[in-house]
Amino acid sequence: MNPSFDLSGKVAMVTGGSKGLGRAMALGFAEAGADIVVASRKLPGCESVAKEVQALGRRALPLACHVSDWAQCEALIEASIAELGRIDVLVNNAGIAPVAPRLLDVTEELFDKTIGVNLKGPLRLAALAAEHMAEGSSIINISSVASLRPIPTTAVYGAAKAGLNTLTQVMAQEFAPKGIRVNAIVCGTFWTDSFRKAVPSEKAAAAAARGSVSRRIAEPEEIVGTALYLATDAASYTTGQLIQVDGGVLP
Ligand SMILES: NC(=O)c1ccc[n+]([C@@H]2O[C@H](COP(=O)([O-])OP(=O)(O)OC[C@H]3O[C@@H](n4cnc5c(N)ncnc54)[C@H](OP(=O)(O)O)[C@@H]3O)[C@@H](O)[C@H]2O)c1
Repeated sequence: MNPSFDLSGKVAMVTGGSKGLGRAMALGFAEAGADIVVASRKLPGCESVAKEVQALGRRALPLACHVSDWAQCEALIEASIAELGRIDVLVNNAGIAPVAPRLLDVTEELFDKTIGVNLKGPLRLAALAAEHMAEGSSIINISSVASLRPIPTTAVYGAAKAGLNTLTQVMAQEFAPKGIRVNAIVCGTFWTDSFRKAVPSEKAAAAAARGSVSRRIAEPEEIVGTALYLATDAASYTTGQLIQVDGGVLP
């Protein structure tokens, strides 16, 4: 039997879908046949990706949502069900990685914001989405190697993503009886806006590239194969896993 990577007739919701890795996954899922909910804080970016999805012949629903705000998470799920009727795949991709040189420089605002987007939002969205998901559905949490190899300047981010790894394993257990699989993609370095902001110099980017055996930074599209695998029946026996897509970051 050949594994199926087909998402025809399915609806995939991608948070942080307006750019970077989220946009790449939204377009990859649309090419595989899914209709897409594109969510992020700023509606124009979502609308622009929605147009790209529609150009691929799929339905697209652009929606503004600040994922730290649970009322907005509820509104996002409700609007998606009302408009598209189902959610088969949720990608908790929205994330921020603010830098603070030392723990003493971490403000309460930075702490709350970082935990809110990377951890608090994904928990609520997964809990709400699972209520609507049929057997065979999939939740994908986008984590970071910063959760496994933390560095001081992104301490809170690393801790939030480590929490997301733990939540992935909890969600996998809780949702297994419903036939919903939950996995995390633990990302290395990809050329996106947030990476460019975090690594502004060529020297710093070259140092980041040397962190993996591939010794390069990936294009956003290089996450799509793993995301599609986890989203589809091809991964029917894979749940609760942290899958590193990092060019080979070794211990
Ligand atoms: N790029 C990398 O090297 C790398 C490495 C490890 C992990 N990751 C993870 O991969 C994910 C995507 O990162 P990226 O590099 O693609 O980032 P990006 O290009 O900066 O995109 C971030 C996306 O998240 C949205 N977003 C930010 N805050 C949000 C909020 N509060 N609520 C809803 N949406 C929000 C942004 O849109 P709006 O501004 O419109 O909200 C945007 O669509 C993140 O979880 C990140 O931690 C990335």
